[in-house]
Amino acid sequence: MSTLNRRRLLQSMIAAPALAGLTPALRAFGGEDALIDSAAKAIDVFDFEPLARAKLPPAHFGYLATGVDGDATLRANEAGFANHPLRVRRMVNTQTIDTRVSVFGTTWETPIFLVPLGSQRAFHPDGELGTARAARSKKHLQVLSTVSSTSVEDVNAARGEPVWYQLYPTDQWPVAEALVARARNAGCPVLVLTVDLQGGSNRVTLARSIPRDSRDCTACHATSRTRLSGFIADKPMFDGLDISAVTDITPPDMTWDYLARLRDIWPRKLVIKGIVTREDAELAVAHGADGIIVSNHGGRAEDSGRSAIDSLAEVAPAVNGRVPVLMDSGIRRGSDVFKALALGADAVGVGRPYIWGLASFGQEGVERVLEILRMEFSIAMRQAGARSVAEIDASFLVDHRRA
Ligand SMILES: Cc1cc2nc3c(=O)[nH]c(=O)nc-3n(C[C@H](O)[C@H](O)[C@H](O)COP(=O)(O)O)c2cc1C
Repeated sequence: MSTLNRRRLLQSMIAAPALAGLTPALRAFGGEDALIDSAAKAIDVFDFEPLARAKLPPAHFGYLATGVDGDATLRANEAGFANHPLRVRRMVNTQTIDTRVSVFGTTWETPIFLVPLGSQRAFHPDGELGTARAARSKKHLQVLSTVSSTSVEDVNAARGEPVWYQLYPTDQWPVAEALVARARNAGCPVLVLTVDLQGGSNRVTLARSIPRDSRDCTACHATSRTRLSGFIADKPMFDGLDISAVTDITPPDMTWDYLARLRDIWPRKLVIKGIVTREDAELAVAHGADGIIVSNHGGRAEDSGRSAIDSLAEVAPAVNGRVPVLMDSGIRRGSDVFKALALGADAVGVGRPYIWGLASFGQEGVERVLEILRMEFSIAMRQAGARSVAEIDASFLVDHRRA
């Protein structure tokens, strides 16, 4: 290899991490110069991704970025929105718009919520507390993960009101009972059972990132990272529980009957997260779910190659308003939020982008991500001629049978 070629190769290797995730237009401006130095300077959520990548240890960024196998589902999630172009209307007075939604009797200023996302202190020392304070200041719904790095009690205090609690029940019923009791005592109004990791998940990008991390992981993590009990031993929601027999965060033999078991110990709203087909939506409703989250775990569960927005297009008509249908996976822009609502979602969850913000600037970064998505969503509503969320329906989507 010539010296010039070698230099070019080295330059591209150095530039690549900072450039990944930038829009093509920004990429044209070059490498490190493009990194923002304050949250206020972010123009869209993608401004935070290269900064998060630059700031985080490789294994932690790998944990955030990873999909499964060749990341086909992850890519499909973002690309899928292009399959649902909008039909926008003109000459509508949208000087005043109403972005509010109601879910389970609570009204939110915006349909955008913060998904459950584990181990947030791996991304910033503020962790879930930074997210909770941002959710509080911007008035968003937050869902807390079972594998959070901060307890539900502390998060509720930082949020100023109880969050929704996401449940990984584990394969030990007494552990599930204890987690549910704790969420109940903490006043959480909604329990979200995640059902999309039952088959395991082959996180190739994460596995590739770990050897690039030269730090001593045992300085922060419990020593036995290879066993699940080692992983969850770090997590405050498992404090005081006997987790020695836990081998899975989801019972491998879980079927729809499990909802009835949960019902016996959880009297409040029960939502099932991870539904991607009409059949399972029907079964969830038939087994008493109060709500559904259409999600493929941000492309971290199955290697189906199918986008969550396409799944929503199948699920929402099947549910037909019987229970709220929420959606996440791949939301990056306000127009994505608009499309999900047009396809029948009642609220729309954002995942990695708020963590890019958290990793970059803590609470302030999360706030800026929320601000940007809200601003983009309001523009999308005005541009489309929708005066309220209630007006956003399938008429704003191209009907492929007629187009
Ligand atoms: C790093 C990471 C950790 C996650 N942890 C959880 C979790 O603990 N519980 C859960 O139900 N979903 C978890 N998810 C999935 C999210 O709730 C959500 O479905 C997904 O992030 C949405 O996709 P997006 O990141 O493309 O927005 C996690 C996702 C990521 C990226």
